[in-house]
Amino acid sequence: MSHWQPGTTIQEGRYTIAKILGYGGSGVTYRAQENPTGDWVAIKTLNALMQTRSDFSKHQERFVQEAFRLAKCSHPHVIRVDNICQEGALWCMVMECVAGGDLRQYAVAKGGLQEAEALRYIQQIGSALDYVHQQKFLHRDVKPANIMLRKQTMEAILIDFGLAREFVQDEIQTHTNSRTESFAPIEQYEKTAKRGAYTDVYALAATFYYVLTLQLPFPAPFRRQGANLIPPQQHNPNISDRINLAILKGMELNPENRSPSISAWLELLKGPTVPHQFRPKNPQSPAFNPPIPPLNPISSRSARNTSPTSSRSVPQNVAPPIDTSAPTVQPIQSISLISIAGVDYVPLQELLSQAKFKEADQETARMLLKLANREKAGWLDQIHVDNLPCEDLRTIDHLWQQGSNGRFGFSVQRRIYKSVGGTSEHNVDTWKLYCDRIGWRQNNKMLSYKDLNFSLWATEGHLPMLGLQIWGFTGWFAVLVSRLEMCQI
Ligand SMILES: Nc1ncnc2c1ncn2[C@@H]1O[C@H](COP(=O)(O)OP(=O)(O)O)[C@@H](O)[C@H]1O
Ligand SMILES: [Mg+2]
Repeated sequence: MSHWQPGTTIQEGRYTIAKILGYGGSGVTYRAQENPTGDWVAIKTLNALMQTRSDFSKHQERFVQEAFRLAKCSHPHVIRVDNICQEGALWCMVMECVAGGDLRQYAVAKGGLQEAEALRYIQQIGSALDYVHQQKFLHRDVKPANIMLRKQTMEAILIDFGLAREFVQDEIQTHTNSRTESFAPIEQYEKTAKRGAYTDVYALAATFYYVLTLQLPFPAPFRRQGANLIPPQQHNPNISDRINLAILKGMELNPENRSPSISAWLELLKGPTVPHQFRPKNPQSPAFNPPIPPLNPISSRSARNTSPTSSRSVPQNVAPPIDTSAPTVQPIQSISLISIAGVDYVPLQELLSQAKFKEADQETARMLLKLANREKAGWLDQIHVDNLPCEDLRTIDHLWQQGSNGRFGFSVQRRIYKSVGGTSEHNVDTWKLYCDRIGWRQNNKMLSYKDLNFSLWATEGHLPMLGLQIWGFTGWFAVLVSRLEMCQI
């Protein structure tokens, strides 16, 4: 099975697929037209990757549960499900198609939102979550990319109930390990933990944090290891004291200190919002002591040189996620997905924009095999690497860089490889040095693929790793580097 191409009709002609709207770790969402009305709908199914898995039917069962659970909901800020149907072996959830972008794209395009506007969306999604909690389930994946904005009315709509689970407040249950870094509270990182409405409170407060500052808040495990959450007001001085404090309360690390319910948290948002005339303090002053240095290669190097204490709370092999001085995310439209080989890079772009790095890594491996026409064989020889098209390698590199704030990608890896003395001739010692530097090797041992760090907090250059065993020869990295050099990447 693969994805439906534009023009494909399903349900005996009832829907005509127009394009892919989004592609995630497990699902793919299409825009389609309903016949004969001509109305636009969004259709979600499990994606091609999931369809190849042995546990596909288990996932599909969950997916159908998601669809039915959602279909029972009726709230102005929860996405409306119109139909649940089966096409061949694949179940489809047909939803109203929200014309407009998601909140992440919108906030990025605007360079961050004004407090009053952001507050309106947060209150709308808050009321949607309150309703969802009354139906006795948690969303568990609230984040700007899962909130759509209606073009005409600019109303916020909550989508993507893929991680939703029924819950009894405060009951200890096993969590699956799916979550989105930066927006997920600490209890979602623990296998068995109490859960309650406060789990979604954290994610909604983190969403507010992001749209006001365009900074991803430090992920919860990082905070538990000592990195203090930078108050949003420190990134954006126009945020009022009230909202600043409410966000911090909603993002309390310990669930017991957090607002217990959405409605309790929404109460904190009420009242006049007086901008706080805050100016960032002098970075040298002891009061302003960011727990970790900034991200990008140049400034992080200088930060380490000038301020050795600033990295003291960073755990080993955990790199600083955020440049505290600049927005971290680029608008995703800014890259043209050039392929001279006719390869579709939208899925890769989507995965990276959602920080799904493991899936993105595997997708990249698949793309390289496709570029070399070696999908069937499943591995590449030197000659194939030597002939990978420069345009496509460049597009892949751009996508990885964009999806990681410049931390990952071929060009980053090439630079690091060169900095440890690597050349186009394979040399075991420099190879080991390089692997140490980018975190593929620890304690004199190469990590296995499953132990890699598939998050933004991995060491610089850690990804892509292309772990599907696609290299059929030793010294592949030296060959890849010489190809990158040839292509000036
Ligand atoms: N009902 C919809 N109307 C318009 N766009 C949608 C709709 N549902 C999803 N999308 C788009 O598809 C993307 C992926 O959908 P989502 O349900 O979040 O799945 P995933 O599990 O892949 O994150 C969204 O970020 C959004 O851009
Ligand atoms: Mg989503």
